[in-house]
Amino acid sequence: VLVSQPLPAGLLLRTARPADREQIAALLTDRGDAADAVDHRLIVEDPDAGWECCAVVVDGDRVVSTTTLLDETLILAGVAIPAGQVELVATDRRYEGRGLARALMGWAHERSAALGHLVQVLIGIPYFYRRFGYQYAIPLPPTRRVLGVPPPCDGYAVRPAGPSDLAAMAALQDAVQQAYDVRMPHSPACWRWLVARQGSGQLLVERDGIPVATARITPPDEDEVMLGDVAATEPAAAHALVQYSQKLCGGREFAVKERPGSLAGEALEPFLAPRSPQAEAYYVRVSDPVAVLDRLRPVLSARLGPSGLAPGDGEILLSFFGSHVRLPYRDGTVVGIRAGGPMQAPGSAGGAGIAPDLVGALLFGPHGIAGLAERHPDVYPGPRGDLMRALFPPVSADLLTLYLP
Ligand SMILES: CC(C)(COP(=O)(O)OP(=O)(O)OC[C@H]1O[C@@H](n2cnc3c(N)ncnc32)[C@H](O)[C@@H]1OP(=O)(O)O)[C@@H](O)C(=O)NCCC(=O)NCCS
Repeated sequence: VLVSQPLPAGLLLRTARPADREQIAALLTDRGDAADAVDHRLIVEDPDAGWECCAVVVDGDRVVSTTTLLDETLILAGVAIPAGQVELVATDRRYEGRGLARALMGWAHERSAALGHLVQVLIGIPYFYRRFGYQYAIPLPPTRRVLGVPPPCDGYAVRPAGPSDLAAMAALQDAVQQAYDVRMPHSPACWRWLVARQGSGQLLVERDGIPVATARITPPDEDEVMLGDVAATEPAAAHALVQYSQKLCGGREFAVKERPGSLAGEALEPFLAPRSPQAEAYYVRVSDPVAVLDRLRPVLSARLGPSGLAPGDGEILLSFFGSHVRLPYRDGTVVGIRAGGPMQAPGSAGGAGIAPDLVGALLFGPHGIAGLAERHPDVYPGPRGDLMRALFPPVSADLLTLYLP
């Protein structure tokens, strides 16, 4: 769908087109990095994404702000949730503070909804995206400086990976991601961008010609070189990646994006500096909790049945205070969902209370309803606490994104 929407002061928000390419590249380079311009070109020229996933604000012929929406899939306990990811957000310095990024976020969210996305995720500058309905919900993989040198690992060959290695790398990542409750794989298009972009390069480790590990690394001439997305089937293969990277960056500061809960995470732990106490998280936006909960009914059923906490017929009541939902169940299966209006005191009706802006954290975050209730006065499991804790447990997550988080 091509969009063309007048803004105040004669500006126009519209779908980007090929003639905008150089100006968008210049804007992204100025406000970010030259590598961003390469990413933008890869995205808009890819048949799976295309120019329609990018919008600009123009002042006459001049591009003064831009945003891109990527198509993603979040998977919770095997259930796919179509998701959007906003990226490449920039406004010309002379046009800042006039609501252009806000207008483009509006475009992104409308497009995302039209594409059937039920949630949006993003990695972004602090606080800004809270203004557009995002909350910090899923912890980022911690960045940890590498202090030690892993033992020598003979028999492991590390090399840059290219387009012919995509299937092997995707298989290694898929295998790692199976261990997490929530995962977001790279889309097929994103894999193509990863082997063509400048912001990072892909690595593959082989033992006897068999792919046993993969990762990506930022350019060795950067101030701090980063190894991320480490996926290994054997500890020594993860060690080989670190050794290779240490040689490549020749004594410069070098850090790993930890992958907690993975084999590589465990193998590299002894060589990493302590975690920073600073919180870092992916932003998540859930604009319609009813639609997401409806999609997640199979997940709720899979938690409800085995819990034994709700035999026979009944109803799960969740209030977001300004609205509420009822989820009828029968013999351990959630069989429907009904939305209703404001409900101030769900506890008195046997339900749980959940601030609507914590729904993303509730469904995809590490705290579950019990942990959120400890932190937020406006989340509580109510009188059926055991049931609500079974339905909304803490979950682990592993998200793969075009940009290293
Ligand atoms: C961040 C950036 C995109 C904002 O663009 P913009 O067009 O000036 O933003 P808007 O005018 O639409 O801002 C929307 C609101 O957020 C506020 N805001 C702007 N920058 C903000 C920031 N960094 N943090 C918090 N609030 C901010 C604005 O004051 C405005 O508030 P209002 O709605 O109450 O008036 C722009 O400053 C930029 O390009 N920065 C450099 C690149 C960058 O950091 N991109 C984001 C990467 S994730």
